[in-house]
Amino acid sequence: MSGTKKREIDIIDLKVAFGKFYALKGVSFFANKREFLGIIGASGAGKTTVLRVLTGQISPTSGKAYISGYDVTRNKKLISLLVGYVPQLEHLSLYYDFSALQNAQFFGRCFGLRPKEIDDRARSILTILGFDEDLMTKRVSRLSGGERKRVSICLGMIHEPKVLLLDEPTTGLDAHLRHETLNYLKELNYEMGTTMVIISHDLEVTDYCSRVVLLENGLVSQFGTPQELISTLPGKGESLKVVLNSMSQTFVERLYSIPGVKYMTKAGRNTLKVFMNHPDEQLLLVVEALNQMNIPFEEVSIVEADFFDYFQVKPWKGEQTGGLLV
Ligand SMILES: Nc1ncnc2c1ncn2[C@@H]1O[C@H](COP(=O)(O)OP(=O)(O)OP(=O)(O)O)[C@@H](O)[C@H]1O
Ligand SMILES: [Mg+2]
Repeated sequence: MSGTKKREIDIIDLKVAFGKFYALKGVSFFANKREFLGIIGASGAGKTTVLRVLTGQISPTSGKAYISGYDVTRNKKLISLLVGYVPQLEHLSLYYDFSALQNAQFFGRCFGLRPKEIDDRARSILTILGFDEDLMTKRVSRLSGGERKRVSICLGMIHEPKVLLLDEPTTGLDAHLRHETLNYLKELNYEMGTTMVIISHDLEVTDYCSRVVLLENGLVSQFGTPQELISTLPGKGESLKVVLNSMSQTFVERLYSIPGVKYMTKAGRNTLKVFMNHPDEQLLLVVEALNQMNIPFEEVSIVEADFFDYFQVKPWKGEQTGGLLV
């Protein structure tokens, strides 16, 4: 058992080598019960490899991974009961000629559940996922991409796992469906108390996460709550929104020369977000500087920084480089 009881997932210095190549080079992070954890990273960063360890599909070269305090390499049968897995869209193993409820019967039987029990569970999960009787009984081949995704989420949940691992549940869906799917997952997380681990390339996932891991080349580059990560920016989570009458490179360069300005990001056609250590104290100085430099502007105000700013300002590779980002 791992030391910290509260932790539903605990990964400690995990390394996974394929031959001489280390896909994971010493990864550590955790999630408490009922958390919504996002694993974000570029292609090849090692995201799926982490899930393959957590589901017992591969054994780590070194390090430890625990689910509910159980070592995943030592308790494979138990781990398969504790964990649900929703693979990437192209790997969804659905029976397309059967309905969502019929698919649930196939999956539920693998866990030794009785037909009535499976039907009850599938109905309540699918209801949380926004399915009515018509969608539950319609052939999967006639469902939309987002609806199929929700069927696969239901199958991953059929044995009521403590932890649901989802590999890119929003990839391939349009913006509306991405948010819809994430809202449904949040609902399941809330209603059933399931700890969620979501792999994604999409930064918008972080809006739903209680904690975020950024993986880069097999290493954790950042780990924390979205707020903790955002508060590492200059201004500790606050920035200055500057709306100019028109945008020009000269204006941008002049703005950047104002003392204290550390970074700027573009937040709209004529809008910049300016990052400095004390935006509240420096707001008036920025207004004065704009006037002195004859830069016409419409607005200067303090706004909250968000995760998109975080990714633009904080380069993925460790240290800040400083400078102009627009
Ligand atoms: N069985 C394997 N044998 C050799 N190399 C592998 C194997 N599985 C994964 N890798 C390599 O390990 C690295 C991490 O792979 P992984 O699938 O974890 O990436 P990922 O972050 O999930 O990427 P994506 O976003 O493209 O799905 C990649 O460079 C990949 O080529
Ligand atoms: Mg992957």
